[in-house]
Amino acid sequence: MTAPAIEQRALGRTSGLTVPAVGMGTWQTFDVRGPGAERDAHGIVAEALDAGARFLDSSPMYGEAERVLGEGLTALGRRDEALVATKVWTPDDAEAERQVQRALRWYGGRVDLYQVHNLVGWPERLALLERERDRGTIAAIGATHYSAGAFGDLADVMRTGRISAIQIPYNPHERDVEREILPLAEELGLGVVVMRPFGGGGLAARAPDPADLEPLRAFGVETWAQALLKWVLSDPRCHVAIPATSRPGRMRENAAAGAPPWLDDDARALVARLAGARA
Ligand SMILES: NC(=O)c1ccc[n+]([C@@H]2O[C@H](COP(=O)([O-])OP(=O)(O)OC[C@H]3O[C@@H](n4cnc5c(N)ncnc54)[C@H](OP(=O)(O)O)[C@@H]3O)[C@@H](O)[C@H]2O)c1
Repeated sequence: MTAPAIEQRALGRTSGLTVPAVGMGTWQTFDVRGPGAERDAHGIVAEALDAGARFLDSSPMYGEAERVLGEGLTALGRRDEALVATKVWTPDDAEAERQVQRALRWYGGRVDLYQVHNLVGWPERLALLERERDRGTIAAIGATHYSAGAFGDLADVMRTGRISAIQIPYNPHERDVEREILPLAEELGLGVVVMRPFGGGGLAARAPDPADLEPLRAFGVETWAQALLKWVLSDPRCHVAIPATSRPGRMRENAAAGAPPWLDDDARALVARLAGARA
């Protein structure tokens, strides 16, 4: 049976990008060196693209990942199929310039979503990214933070009107964004990229008994990882979830969760309970 087509969502009202509901992250999984390991990573990129999960996220913080992803897209001859989201991550102006120019070389001269990683030096980094956007090398600008302690600062940056997307953690164990960040993103029309949909892997690893997933089958859920992704994506304020994987086969499984039907409130509460979190 062929997998249902992955849903396409506008990444907010202002980014101009349309993204698949499931993309892929590269933290840890793509920080590899050497021909064998890099070839394996390129194979995962091909699987993600084949499955329609063409929104691919990286950062200079992830060791070799940015390079391995870029070289993979080039080696596969598939850069044009992908939407590349990467980040600038440094307090130093000259280093920021080097990071951006390096990434533009790796990604064929353009980046689809360029994000300020963890808000580091954000006023200067936004100015740099705005200059690049004016030159036509960047389509949209965003900001990311992984920590609830920084969400007040993230909200301030969202209100500047200078970004069109955010990247935040969201899963049944990390729901802080429900308080201020998701409502504000909706009000401002910002795109929302969801990192850590499996809580870094720990949530996906603690799968409940398959019999407990029975009520979720009607929603197209076959595996626990798919239940977790559908839990995120059933909130329409979330536009793309970016699970990372180093294992062949898993991107196909993850991408299949990017198609309707979406979970209703009861099904979502069940997933939260199965994850051992409040419903
Ligand atoms: N901006 C930031 O501050 C920030 C912070 C964290 C993450 N991120 C971004 O968000 C992405 C996702 O977050 P994350 O990598 O931290 O965590 P995650 O996507 O929640 O979890 C990744 C882990 O899940 C496992 N996994 C993937 N598919 C699975 C499946 N179908 N079944 C069971 N396990 C599965 C992977 O193991 P295998 O490799 O064994 O498949 C991997 O260890 C990152 O890669 C990165 O691009 C950004």
